Amino acid sequence: MSHNLLKGKRGIIFGALDENSIAWKTAERAHEEGATFVLTNAPVAMRMGAINQLAEKTNSQIVPADATSLEDLENLVEKSVEILGGKLDFVLHSIGMSVNVRKGRHYTDLNYDWSQKGWDVSALSFHKTMQTLYKKDAMTEWGSIVALTYMAAQRVFPDYNDMADNKAYLESIARSFGYFFGRDKKVRVNTISQSPTATTAGKGVKGFDGFIEYADKMSPLGNASALECADYTITLFSDLTKKVTLQNLFHDGGFSNVGVSEMVMQKFTEEN
Ligand SMILES: NC(=O)c1ccc[n+]([C@@H]2O[C@H](COP(=O)([O-])OP(=O)(O)OC[C@H]3O[C@@H](n4cnc5c(N)ncnc54)[C@H](O)[C@@H]3O)[C@@H](O)[C@H]2O)c1
Repeated sequence: MSHNLLKGKRGIIFGALDENSIAWKTAERAHEEGATFVLTNAPVAMRMGAINQLAEKTNSQIVPADATSLEDLENLVEKSVEILGGKLDFVLHSIGMSVNVRKGRHYTDLNYDWSQKGWDVSALSFHKTMQTLYKKDAMTEWGSIVALTYMAAQRVFPDYNDMADNKAYLESIARSFGYFFGRDKKVRVNTISQSPTATTAGKGVKGFDGFIEYADKMSPLGNASALECADYTITLFSDLTKKVTLQNLFHDGGFSNVGVSEMVMQKFTEEN
């Protein structure tokens, strides 16, 4: 259902890989709410081709960019402003990747070259994106920038590996850059801490099936889906949340504030 919440707004959406991606759902919802935007992903992800269907469906153009490359980001921001015909009202950073997770390397035995790559892709890319937008003065006043994160930034989830550290860094960048973006350009910057979600990135984490089931049983409202995350993101891009900034916002059905639930306790008493 559309409420025209983003009517006339322009943006960039990073990270739509396939129809399960949180960025994919956000693009569909942003289109329904009246926004125009450019889709972007790493050149390697383009080869999968699915993003072309999304572009067609949402009348969007695609500008490939490796989010670790300043040159690519500069080109992306310049082209987007040109294509959309004005400065940007919103940007979604929906990017995550750990080589150590991918290759099954344990947290106590990290390959640091891989750690650096994962940190660059998952965390520093957010700074690079914002620095490019800031220097090019590409955001409108009262614009909104959102990145996606996970609660392993605050609490231990052993199999989340070095992504936990990357997310902690990402959330810190949101606060630190958000201060200057707010002070100088009246742009807000927030992170959304999302429930485990069955996407390519999510399913890549070891033990994901147990993980997602456990979170669901712990959360009074159950896990938040990718579509629900898209809905929440739309509110943060809308004019209804103008003074929300520097926040890490939990979108997790209540999981982050629950010690234990009856459903989880039951599981233990059944088994003993
Ligand atoms: N799925 C979950 O359980 C979950 C939970 C909380 C937060 N998140 C976060 O949500 C975000 C989106 O992930 P998703 O779950 O939709 O998975 P996804 O795999 O669909 O999306 C991850 C995206 O990152 C892109 N990417 C990787 N390297 C890149 C690079 N160098 N440059 C540009 N893009 C690059 C991928 O191509 C892909 O589109 C990530 O930040 C992820 O950590 C996911």
